[in-house]
Amino acid sequence: MSTAVVIYRSRSGTTRRYGEEIGAHLRSRGLETRVVSIGECDLERLREADLVLLGCWTNGLMVVLQHPDQPWLDFARDLPPIPGARVGLFTTYKLATGSMFSRMRAALAGKAGPIGLELKSRSGGLSDGDRRALDRFIETP
Ligand SMILES: Cc1cc2nc3c(=O)[nH]c(=O)nc-3n(C[C@H](O)[C@H](O)[C@H](O)COP(=O)(O)O)c2cc1C
Repeated sequence: MSTAVVIYRSRSGTTRRYGEEIGAHLRSRGLETRVVSIGECDLERLREADLVLLGCWTNGLMVVLQHPDQPWLDFARDLPPIPGARVGLFTTYKLATGSMFSRMRAALAGKAGPIGLELKSRSGGLSDGDRRALDRFIETP
């Protein structure tokens, strides 16, 4: 069975909810899935995962200068290389994600291969489009 780890950084709960919904969808597709905050993540066990989804709330000046917050950047810095995993990103936001995904990708440079998925939500709920994107991500060889 394939394994997935969903790792979130959430300030007030929305990104945690989104991560949990992503995790529930992956489980419904038969993946053994753990959903953890960045503080709970066991970095050593991460190497065993086939899929790794990394999420953070969107921090910025609402319409410009979006970036992951410092705890997420510290987490990304300390992350061991996970070349064997397929990696996806997710965020929650209010107005615009802007440079959020490019900043997340930059923080992961050299640790992961190409990022195969970027999901975003205002509410923390999973849309039908998100479900389809997750299904494609799972099925990508
Ligand atoms: C200090 C601060 C900065 C924010 N900057 C942005 C922003 O630049 N763009 C945006 O769309 N939302 C922004 N937001 C909204 C949050 O990204 C949004 O509410 C998010 O869902 C919070 O996730 P959380 O509940 O997991 O902490 C900001 C919120 C805060 C508190």
